[in-house]
Amino acid sequence: MHTITLNAPDDFDGWRAGAKAALLAGLAPEDVLFAVEGQGGGLFADTSPLPPPNPSVKPPTVPKDFIPLAQLTVCHSDPERFALLYRLLHRLQGDRTLLKQRADADTHRINVWAKEVRRDLHKMKAFVRFRKTGETPDGTEQFVSWFEPTHYTVRYGSGFFVRRFASMHWSILTPKGCSHWDGENLTFSDPVPKSEAPADDALEDYWKSYYAAIFNPARLKTQAMQSEMPKKYWHNLPEASLIPGLIEKARERESAMIEAPPTMPLEGMMRHREVAQPDRVQETFPDRDTIKTLDDLRASLKGCRACPLWEPATQAVPGKGPAHAPIMFVGEQPGDKEDLAGEPFIGPAGQVLRGVLSEIGHDPDNIYVTNAVKHFKFEPPPVGSRGKRRLHKNPTVKEIDHCKWWLNREIELVQPRVVVALGGSAVRALTGKSGTIKALRGGAHPLAHRGGALSMVVTNHPSYILRIPEPHRAEQARQGLIDDLRFALSL
Ligand code: URA
Repeated sequence: MHTITLNAPDDFDGWRAGAKAALLAGLAPEDVLFAVEGQGGGLFADTSPLPPPNPSVKPPTVPKDFIPLAQLTVCHSDPERFALLYRLLHRLQGDRTLLKQRADADTHRINVWAKEVRRDLHKMKAFVRFRKTGETPDGTEQFVSWFEPTHYTVRYGSGFFVRRFASMHWSILTPKGCSHWDGENLTFSDPVPKSEAPADDALEDYWKSYYAAIFNPARLKTQAMQSEMPKKYWHNLPEASLIPGLIEKARERESAMIEAPPTMPLEGMMRHREVAQPDRVQETFPDRDTIKTLDDLRASLKGCRACPLWEPATQAVPGKGPAHAPIMFVGEQPGDKEDLAGEPFIGPAGQVLRGVLSEIGHDPDNIYVTNAVKHFKFEPPPVGSRGKRRLHKNPTVKEIDHCKWWLNREIELVQPRVVVALGGSAVRALTGKSGTIKALRGGAHPLAHRGGALSMVVTNHPSYILRIPEPHRAEQARQGLIDDLRFALSL
């Protein structure tokens, strides 16, 4: 028996080098033992160096699927993982189809372990919560997170946090090893006990109020929620302390939501409309040259009757923000609250947007925010009925295409350098084409526009996040929105 000593429990490079040397030496799986430094393995094994390469052994090769599977499997906490990998590697030299043989015991095991590690990485992304612990002498904020992974996933999973929180200084402390990012270098250190992690701070309150805000009692599926967010993680999540109370109140709140009267009683809506009656009624779009400023546009938009959507709505909702903002966000259409107030993004979707912007340190008031369609489209509550809310209805492609006259003019007047399409209706309005958000996310798309050179960044609409019932998936989607907006703001 020959022992190969690895530097760490997830030392993939060490395993790879050792396994290659053992193969070249012609060692059978039962003759090799992998031990992790400091973990006491291989106490009784022969620690003599590996035999030299055997000239009759051909250099090993592997199918390309093996390396990523091995990288994941090395992170598994089963002590047999290195031996399994070496056995597979050894067998692959005689049978390159082995990884395709799902019924093979070793192939089955590596796939199961890789899947378990992937799940652990996924939990890490969803449940790591940084707490502010202090500042460096130059004022850079420092954050620490305590997390309890099932496997040795910290090293593998830390790249994600480097990309996401590149400008922060942070540490992820775990009982299976720690990672540290100082804005330039990612380093790793030994495990620490939980007592080294800070208990709470101001971010805690932020998480709690965010979580309570996105918690929709009508979508509560307790079992699904607990399987997606296992109780094991609850004690490290600030928002988890709210869960039992929210579940208890959920049924009550759900009935209250169903029973609630329209957001504003009909009479109130009619009164509001009177206030919003325009001086000029526009049966069609105005002459472009008469709209020279955003004030002209707002005044003219008030009287827009260019499509039937004006009729049930309270008022047209123009964009809002600095007249020459370098960046413009385009939503779909005003919601219930926006329709009543005459301002875009002041309801729940706007709250998500503002929360995300302040989290990435950007003042929402520096952004011009507007919509593809300027009137609220909804299911009108039957006259005289109570207990019904005005329910948002998606605008049709025809309505979006028709209304984009206003958006185009807004772009010409504001002349932003970057436009962020929040969801599919905005993409349609900006490009004249219907595209899937998934396919368009993650880059800047040049747009030809009379306003000048323009880059479009596409992301999900914030209300998409509000519709996701499982908290950790909602959080993932929110992190995606953060990434996309951070990218757009960096352009
Ligand atoms: N959703 C939108 O797309 N726009 C708003 O203004 C509000 C909600």
